[in-house]
Amino acid sequence: MEIDLASLGMEKGRQYETVITTINSENVKNAAPMGVICLDKNMILNRIFKGSHTLDNILLQKEFIVNITHDPEIFTKSTLGNLPPEYFNEDNSLKCAEAYFKCESIKFIEAVKQSDPIKKKDEAIVIKSKVNEIIINKPTKAMNRGFGYVIESLSNLTRFDMVGEEQKEYYLNRFREANRVVKKVGYKQDIQAMKEIKKELIKKGYEP
Ligand SMILES: Cc1cc2nc3c(=O)[nH]c(=O)nc-3n(C[C@H](O)[C@H](O)[C@H](O)COP(=O)(O)O)c2cc1C
Repeated sequence: MEIDLASLGMEKGRQYETVITTINSENVKNAAPMGVICLDKNMILNRIFKGSHTLDNILLQKEFIVNITHDPEIFTKSTLGNLPPEYFNEDNSLKCAEAYFKCESIKFIEAVKQSDPIKKKDEAIVIKSKVNEIIINKPTKAMNRGFGYVIESLSNLTRFDMVGEEQKEYYLNRFREANRVVKKVGYKQDIQAMKEIKKELIKKGYEP
């Protein structure tokens, strides 16, 4: 079967939130949430901060697995600590994964420039990897953060006229951050929706 990340709803240039699983030199399995940028049908990019097990393991093994899941427990547990061994399959994919793909790293670049507020700009490595196999357990789409921000911004907009100035400022700041993220990772429809919300806030006399 042809390798095509579009089979997981992944579009070229877009960023998705996934859980990456790796193994260390002692075969200990590790899982951590990581953003994945789709570069092409079979090519992805990661930017991973130094000091994470994931980066150490990828530098060592030059291979890893990208798991597609929408399970909040998995994201939380693997952010706050590691997942216990029973969460993993023999091939190091996650048992809960709706789909997963196996990657082989082909290029490592020291990150020097980025658009997010992280201060230590040279503390990450950008990794370009080739996708060698896609396994789909059930039809799914990789998770993109854009739509959640659109919904949150719309919800805040509907409350905007009901709150005091301090809360309005809070909503405006939330909108600014949401807009920054959506412009970076969202689909064009999400970006358009944020433009409409921005127009409404401007009409109300504010500068979002
Ligand atoms: C949704 C989400 C996406 C993340 N994306 C990245 C990323 O792209 N690069 C990165 O270095 N850390 C990212 N993180 C943070 C790591 O998951 C976190 O530092 C984790 O503790 C690293 O675990 P590890 O040491 O087991 O690799 C992300 C966290 C979340 C919740």
